[in-house]
Amino acid sequence: MSKFRTVDSVSSLSGKTALLRIDTDIDIENGRILDDTRLQSALPTIELLLKKGADVNIVGHLGRPKAQFPISNFQFPISNENKEFTLEPIAHWLAKKFDGKVEETKIGELPGWRITPKIILLENIRFSEGEEENDLEFARELSLLGDIFVNDAFAVSHREHASIVGVTKYLPSYAGLHLEREIEVLSNVLKNPKRPLAVLIGGAKIETKLPLVEAMHHLADYVLVGGEIAEQDRVLIKVQHEKIAGKKSAVLVSDSTKDGFDITPHSIENFKQILAQAKTIVWNGPVGKIDQGSKIKDQRSGNTERGTMELAEFIVRTKAYKVVGGGDTVSFLRRMNLLNKFDFVSTGGGAMLEFLSGHKLPGLQALEA
Ligand code: 3PG
Repeated sequence: MSKFRTVDSVSSLSGKTALLRIDTDIDIENGRILDDTRLQSALPTIELLLKKGADVNIVGHLGRPKAQFPISNFQFPISNENKEFTLEPIAHWLAKKFDGKVEETKIGELPGWRITPKIILLENIRFSEGEEENDLEFARELSLLGDIFVNDAFAVSHREHASIVGVTKYLPSYAGLHLEREIEVLSNVLKNPKRPLAVLIGGAKIETKLPLVEAMHHLADYVLVGGEIAEQDRVLIKVQHEKIAGKKSAVLVSDSTKDGFDITPHSIENFKQILAQAKTIVWNGPVGKIDQGSKIKDQRSGNTERGTMELAEFIVRTKAYKVVGGGDTVSFLRRMNLLNKFDFVSTGGGAMLEFLSGHKLPGLQALEA
């Protein structure tokens, strides 16, 4: 961890502005926040920056909107198709936490909301073309909004984006408190896990996760694959695994129920048998469709949460060291009152898996002194 300059090592920030990247990619339905775990994780860093005297300009993203602003020409109003991706509900959440108000504002060319005299939240940074392209001109403009840059967004540190990587070229850059803690705990799992180690991978974002199923075999004794990724890439996962020379781990891919929305009772039992032996369990991604708000109610037939629920209840009863990560999995467990039974809750989904696969995360590399 000492490789990074961390924000707690900065002595005073009086009269300075910190540009702070946080995880704002959370479940929001009709303006209502369904789970604020990722937002909560950034509070200690925001509070620390304020305590050190800084003004704080907060940057975040939500979902995968279509970029609508050319570089350096951000403006309100946002297009109709992007309305569901606005960070406005998060501005209201921050206003409640910091006893502020939500007023539209512009800083530099970028729109956002003033929350208090010391805190501003910028609108979804992925509305800009420059963000995902890691455009350096855009990153330079972003850097004008702070005297220092702080990354507390572990969940997106596997992306080579302007507000994660590019901006560090122009500002003294630091790891936030939450990022620091993620790296500390996950490094321990990576370097010295109690074995057998079982990794359970489910959920969507298949293009991110599929390569990790293969990479994970270097670390894990068992890789269990369920959910959408198992359904769509069953053959590919098995073939990939067969190709790995001297393979070390066993890969189990679940079967799906007829409607394709959950894993079969038989697969649940198979997974349980493996999980019962594990001394460390890492989990990312539900193994069936889970019901965040009413988003998927219409498509559901029967209880598609059964597999995820049964495995969750089983995992929390094991004596293994338990790590869980990823927005959907974390909000599900919180809703079921099981989240506090895990030893560590990572905000990262793809980022956590990438880190544990031994990949260097671009956002972390960019912070290395
Ligand atoms: C996540 O939820 O995993 C992060 O916010 C990254 O999102 P992305 O996969 O759209 O880059």
